[in-house]
Amino acid sequence: MPNLPLPAGFIFGMSTSAYQVEGAVKEDGKGPSAWDWATRQPGGTTDGSTADITDLQYYLYKLDVARMANLGINAHSFSISWARIYPFGAADSPVNQAGIQHYSDMIDYHLQMGVQPIVTLFHWDTPLALVAYYGGFTSPQIVGDFVNYAKTVFEAYKGRVTTWYTFNEPRVFCAQIATYPFNISLAAGVNSTTAPFQCSYNVVKAHVAVVKAFREMGIPGEIAYKNDDFVGTPWRANSTDDIEAVERHTAFQIGVFSEPIYGTGNWPQIMLDTLPPSFLPRFTPEEIAENKGTADFYAIDDYRDQYIAAPPEGLAACINNMTDPNWPQCNQLVQYDVNGWSVGPNPDPDSTSWLQSTPQNLRYSLQQLQARWPTTKIYISEFGFDEPYEANRTDLYLITEDVTRTNYYMTYLGEALLSIYADGIPLMGTFAWSIVDNAEWNYGFSARFGIQYLNHTTLTRTPKRSAFALSQFFAAHLQKN
Ligand code: NOJ
Repeated sequence: MPNLPLPAGFIFGMSTSAYQVEGAVKEDGKGPSAWDWATRQPGGTTDGSTADITDLQYYLYKLDVARMANLGINAHSFSISWARIYPFGAADSPVNQAGIQHYSDMIDYHLQMGVQPIVTLFHWDTPLALVAYYGGFTSPQIVGDFVNYAKTVFEAYKGRVTTWYTFNEPRVFCAQIATYPFNISLAAGVNSTTAPFQCSYNVVKAHVAVVKAFREMGIPGEIAYKNDDFVGTPWRANSTDDIEAVERHTAFQIGVFSEPIYGTGNWPQIMLDTLPPSFLPRFTPEEIAENKGTADFYAIDDYRDQYIAAPPEGLAACINNMTDPNWPQCNQLVQYDVNGWSVGPNPDPDSTSWLQSTPQNLRYSLQQLQARWPTTKIYISEFGFDEPYEANRTDLYLITEDVTRTNYYMTYLGEALLSIYADGIPLMGTFAWSIVDNAEWNYGFSARFGIQYLNHTTLTRTPKRSAFALSQFFAAHLQKN
């Protein structure tokens, strides 16, 4: 028995998403997704790349899953591409049997290799047809189409997949809808200022309807959605203003979905107080009752944990709509590296711009989440690190010596152990992002999060130092069955 064993059943997981790793975007009957379209627009990605090939995991999944098994990884959280199952997205459009078969084979291979398959139904790749027909998630019409797709997937894989997510990081997704290149794609009449809020409302409706279907169909297992972001630590512990800034930040960034689903069933009070119904559609009393309790555990994608200060130091707006006067300032102090991921030394308390990739705040964040939306089980459904200098390196030895990422992972997991042991947090799994470098949305291949390096010509994956460090950490702390 190791010292500080992780709780029995703890998951050493990896996370990926269909668009980012699959490639094969036009094959076996797949329809185009909004991202397939977006990356073809001028400036769609910073490096001009598309995800047409990326890791080609559609064909090479056995390579990746076998590598996971070799490293001792015991679960893989991946997403299904809606447009592979319904190329046109809509409930009254044909199902693509090749898509159903593909994920069936992939799930079986996971089970054969002892890597638990965990499925996210939606990781941002809306079928393009639905964006063109009615504006995708800005329209309430999406709810019926999404529930129909979810039911098809539940029916096909029930029993073999037992942990499910409806949505990945819906706040980030809904914010993206209003920014280039998506805003130029919105159906006529869609207001891009209010679109993120219409989207949030439709996402909650879709989540709730899918969970209802999941329960009515008697699908064995558990279901939730993946939150993003961090609670944040008040910069000055005794400052009421900073504490209020943390409250605002938490309500807008996390509470927007967690309060309806895990809390009161309604939007956070501060959102109701600040945003008129023309911005943020209101739930009816019946909807509030239906929203409540529609998740079986809590999942958070937690990459950064930052200090938050009140004005005048505060800079960033809540979510992304800085131009609208109705939109309160969140006032988090941030300094990002070129790719938007904060890295580097500890903050200088006298400086007004500093950086904070601080796994040290993980414990505080988890305590806060647990106090606000108590649950019996928490997964860190993603965490990871874009080593900022890697993208400019060509020497394979230097790339695979990802010392900063390795330090990040080790510090982070040390804090995770303390959360469990010292704070009594019911943390039952961590999912590193990601098994191999992949297509990082608008950043294309200029941001690398992989614990393996991807050679884009040969598609060879080469493990980095962090892959071995993670493997050894879990070998030391996981309980053997
Ligand atoms: C979270 C997102 O879910 C994932 O798609 C993305 O690649 C990582 N963050 C890193 O940015």
